[in-house]
Amino acid sequence: MELFEVYKLWDIEPVKGCDTKLWDKNGVEYTDLYGGHAVISIGHCHPHYVQKVSEQLGNLGFYSNAVRNSLQKELAKRLGKVSGYDDYSLFLCNSGAEANENAMKVASFHTGKPKILAFNKAFHGRTSGAVAATDNPRIQSPFNATQNVEFCPLNDIEAVEEKLSKGSFAAVIIEGIQGVAGIYEPTDDFLHSLRALCDKYGCLLILDEIQSGYGRSGKFFAHQHSGVRADIITTAKGMANGFPIGGVLISPSIKAEYGMLGTTFGGNHLACSAALAVLDIIENENLIENAAKIGEYFKEAFSGDAAIKEYRGKGLMIGLELKDEYVGLRDRLLFEKKFFTGAAGAKVIRLLPSLTISLETAQSFVKAWKELTSQAF
Ligand SMILES: Cc1ncc(COP(=O)(O)O)c(C=O)c1O
Repeated sequence: MELFEVYKLWDIEPVKGCDTKLWDKNGVEYTDLYGGHAVISIGHCHPHYVQKVSEQLGNLGFYSNAVRNSLQKELAKRLGKVSGYDDYSLFLCNSGAEANENAMKVASFHTGKPKILAFNKAFHGRTSGAVAATDNPRIQSPFNATQNVEFCPLNDIEAVEEKLSKGSFAAVIIEGIQGVAGIYEPTDDFLHSLRALCDKYGCLLILDEIQSGYGRSGKFFAHQHSGVRADIITTAKGMANGFPIGGVLISPSIKAEYGMLGTTFGGNHLACSAALAVLDIIENENLIENAAKIGEYFKEAFSGDAAIKEYRGKGLMIGLELKDEYVGLRDRLLFEKKFFTGAAGAKVIRLLPSLTISLETAQSFVKAWKELTSQAF
């Protein structure tokens, strides 16, 4: 059998990792400023993480959600504390799209309303509900739930009110920082006005923090820079450093009912042990502070850079929009300088490194960038 080829691959096979380093099967060393798409939060193969997950695997890898699992309770408690959403409850699932599906479902159960408002260029996942809230015709299929999702331009509060005033919206879903779109942020004012409009029209505010959360922006969740509180927050990616998991944080005003949500694998013992180890490391190594600090370094180092049209983002969720003549830089960073980075289309390079990244590693990337961009392109 061959693979169903839906991914455009680089001809590189990493076989070993350590913090922000990767090695391919020929022993070539790379520096990872992509983190497998914002997933690697505490570095590759962190010894504490490896130890905790290995120990758990030796005790019990999986049992179903029909029995007590104190690791889930511990994760909820710890996540509540570190995120500042102590009084919320947690539903565990397996991925970002699944977290968003469940968040929209909970909002619809709670309000009794059928519709969702999302934003232009949004990305919320590829399952049918999540893809319906994703503004990208290339990844929607004729079978989807789009009839229940409407879109507005980001940061256009009049457009939001125009939609919400017509009624029947269960929730507004918004990314803490739009990632796949190319790193676009809702303004603080917009988030505050959005919160007020959700309250006025009786719908819930869902913050998708799947890419922007877990400390990446320099706060635990990106929307916390604005001081706004969401009714539901979704998380995945960095949550277990590559072990599949997703989480939905749900306001105490929303009541659970047996059977309302469910999953076979969600919150299994291995996933919880991985997620708990990630929280240990984030806290013990002050990684949120490090994300803010290295983010400031990048911002300063790239200010006025000849190749950059616009620098966007916060902390370690960075979009570098290239001037037209520098398109192709991402491949050169990879193949000539051995740095993995992310992208959004041809013109935006995304930096999504592990929150453990050191100043020296950040400096070595800037040096490589400047060497390449100072040559003729
Ligand atoms: C903001 C956001 N939401 C949802 C998702 C979907 O997550 P997953 O691929 O784990 O389903 C992604 C993935 O890139 C994302 O960036």
